[in-house]
Amino acid sequence: MKIGIIGAGQVGATAAISIMQKDLADSIVLVDVIEGLPQGKSLDMLESGPIVGSDVMIEGSNDLSDLKGSDIVIMTAGLPRKPGMSRTDLLKLNLDIVKPTSESVMEYAPDSILIIVTNPLDIMTYAAQKVSKIPPNRVFGMAGVLDAARYRTFLAMELNVSVEDVSAMLMGGHGDSMVPLPRYSTVSGIPVTEFLGQEKIEAIVDRTRNGGGEIVSLLKTGSAYYAPGSSIAQMVESVVRDKRRVLPACAHLTGEYGFNNIYAGVPVILGRNGVEKVLELELTDDEMTLFHKSVEEISGTVKEIEEQGLL
Ligand code: APR
Repeated sequence: MKIGIIGAGQVGATAAISIMQKDLADSIVLVDVIEGLPQGKSLDMLESGPIVGSDVMIEGSNDLSDLKGSDIVIMTAGLPRKPGMSRTDLLKLNLDIVKPTSESVMEYAPDSILIIVTNPLDIMTYAAQKVSKIPPNRVFGMAGVLDAARYRTFLAMELNVSVEDVSAMLMGGHGDSMVPLPRYSTVSGIPVTEFLGQEKIEAIVDRTRNGGGEIVSLLKTGSAYYAPGSSIAQMVESVVRDKRRVLPACAHLTGEYGFNNIYAGVPVILGRNGVEKVLELELTDDEMTLFHKSVEEISGTVKEIEEQGLL
């Protein structure tokens, strides 16, 4: 099992160390455009091997051809949003990074599973599949696991119970247009609605929606990476071990929930072939309205960039 990670920044490196510590690969290659960065970080991680008891081989490279033979490729290359930069500016800049690197994935690791992490996530996942032409079940994005982990953390804090017993499902886009599903969020099988009133749940949902922003405003010079890194490793584990976990992921829709040829956050079964199945949940009218709004936002942006010839 070889895992390639494009982008050896905060998220890419944290994903690598999580994957190494969970023993999910024989080898990991970190590829970045900055000379020395992937080499330095991977050597540092490799040198933690004797302490944690890991023989995973980790190498750094500045050459995408070193992705050759990867079974899974994780895309974390991209720029973070800087002050004064609009979401559209960021979108264009990151498209310029994700498009050519996705083509390289097709060139060097055409049989791999490609997990997208670069933001704006839903658009980047769509773009990566379109340019790489890797079958859509093998291209998906990581956001839902992270959003759900944030939601679970805040629910566990509020209820003063173990995070292990809190499970949560959510849908839609990453961030502002996330669609929480309190009915499908439980504490050991008991719906959270049994424990918390509407107002409290809404406050927790709100904090989850702004979870990324909360970290950015604390860090000031970057965005979250510990929870994103662990979220990536959990998805990788489900694929590598063919666990068929039911997780929220940014997946390709082919008629589910009334949408076609678009990527959005939905519950999926994740296994050896990537997205083994998109699960269609019964949604209430309110949930369906929120989900449609979220997906329409994503398709609107996709249409815009396609019309501008950017994709
Ligand atoms: N090929 C390889 N690496 C690249 C390329 C490229 N064409 N362009 C940029 N990179 C690298 C940068 O050199 C940098 O090391 O991507 C890395 C990104 O790392 P950080 O700036 O630390 O950003 P990070 O916090 O890791 O976030 C990466 O994940 O969660 C998302 O919103 C986040 O889109 C962002 C991405």
